[in-house]
Amino acid sequence: MITILKQGSALANIAVALLLYLIPAGTNAQIPIIPAPQSVTLGKGYFAPTKKPATKDMVVVTEKNHGDEYYRLEITPKKIVCYAATETGVFYAKQSLLQLADVHGRIPCMIIEDEPRFEWRGLMLDVSRHFFGKEVVLQQLDILARLKMNRYHLHLTDETGWRIEIKQYPKLTGVGAEGNWSDRKAPRAFYTQEDIREIVEYARERHIMVIPEIDMPGHATAVYRSYPEFSTGGTGRWAGFTFYPAAEATYTFLRHVLTEVAALFPAPYIHIGGDEVHFGNQEWKTDPKIQQFIQDNQLGNEVGLEHYFVRRACEIIAGLGKTVIGWDEIIESGVPADKMIVMWWRHDKPQVLDQALKAGFRVILSPRIPCYFDFVQHDTHKIGRRWSGAFNTLEVAYRFPESIQDRTAGRERQILGIQANIWTERIADKKRLDFMTFPRVTVIAEDAWSGTENKNEATFKERLPLFLKYLDTKKIYYFNPFNPDSTPEPWGPEKEDVIAEG
Ligand code: ACM
Repeated sequence: MITILKQGSALANIAVALLLYLIPAGTNAQIPIIPAPQSVTLGKGYFAPTKKPATKDMVVVTEKNHGDEYYRLEITPKKIVCYAATETGVFYAKQSLLQLADVHGRIPCMIIEDEPRFEWRGLMLDVSRHFFGKEVVLQQLDILARLKMNRYHLHLTDETGWRIEIKQYPKLTGVGAEGNWSDRKAPRAFYTQEDIREIVEYARERHIMVIPEIDMPGHATAVYRSYPEFSTGGTGRWAGFTFYPAAEATYTFLRHVLTEVAALFPAPYIHIGGDEVHFGNQEWKTDPKIQQFIQDNQLGNEVGLEHYFVRRACEIIAGLGKTVIGWDEIIESGVPADKMIVMWWRHDKPQVLDQALKAGFRVILSPRIPCYFDFVQHDTHKIGRRWSGAFNTLEVAYRFPESIQDRTAGRERQILGIQANIWTERIADKKRLDFMTFPRVTVIAEDAWSGTENKNEATFKERLPLFLKYLDTKKIYYFNPFNPDSTPEPWGPEKEDVIAEG
């Protein structure tokens, strides 16, 4: 039961009197909170909970003059008082308490004042290349909530599989959900609309927004298998990779699909992908109707057609009352900067980040290095990706986004936040998924929440073991950075992919 007290109560004053000294939160391993809070003043003694868990003893004071995610916790031997403007702030205060309780269930006395550095603290899971069912997603949401992460992006469609039920087009999951990256004949796997509703609600209870991605105009091969009439078709490796861009029927199909998607996800955003369309796609160059369409609409060439496609998708999504998010290729589509949010992913093209910021776009930082969790995290690992030899250790991830601060200087207000992405070409099962996700995601959580002045790599490593214990309670097979040999790398699906570049 939560008790509501008025501001400036006697209890709050007693709490303040007991406190002794202010320390930078991230620099003290006695405060094993990840992500490190913005400010902590340590007190004396412990609060001993009368009930388990201690969050039940917390008294809440509603204080309106702060941001939605702000909280202040005053922990004294007799009382825990939380000041927050919203339920989200109260929820984050509870997450801090849960991390603070030591092995005996005691909580050291202190005052914590905290709020996030960035509003977008995200993780993306690719469920197309290999599908991960509802239970895996719910467990990830539990752990993200503990880390005060608040965005969960589901990459629902790609070449390999279409993973969301669309009632109007049953073949999308009837045919398009068959197979995965390691086994073209794997049985159908997808989320029913009921599953999606359950995931969205579970996330909402944990103050996490779920964002759907329907990738277009490329990465659409699963549509080719189920509704070839909306696909460019073709032959060879890239057959059916793109939607057919020169027929109104394609846009009607997309409007129907996106209307069902919009109704399932309350998030104000829909992600349309927009990446890697392959400008030189043979079929776009040779199909006479496509070439005629380019001429009739004065689009110039195939790139102009790609941009036209993105603009049409944006119009459809705006008509559904939502805002488009897309991978960074979309910045040249001609959609105004206030109508679209950009995910910068091509770390080897920092000029694209510069261009997006200069054009006024809001940007989510998600560069391959250090935000792609399909990259290896230790030099002895053999299966995941590397890029010109570089990969994503905990340390590399910890130095982000400070490592690019010269590029974002003066434009911080356009940076919505940070997101890690788990691409699953080389992640075929839960054990490897866990290994590639944990504990790296704790670093991204701290990068996205804690201010630069509160980050401290050394004490992060002192705080991490307690979080690993929490992961143990969930039976997560995480990579152990303190003893890499104790957690051998689980094998991936594709032996020929060993040490793949790019
Ligand atoms: C991407 O990695 N193609 C966004």
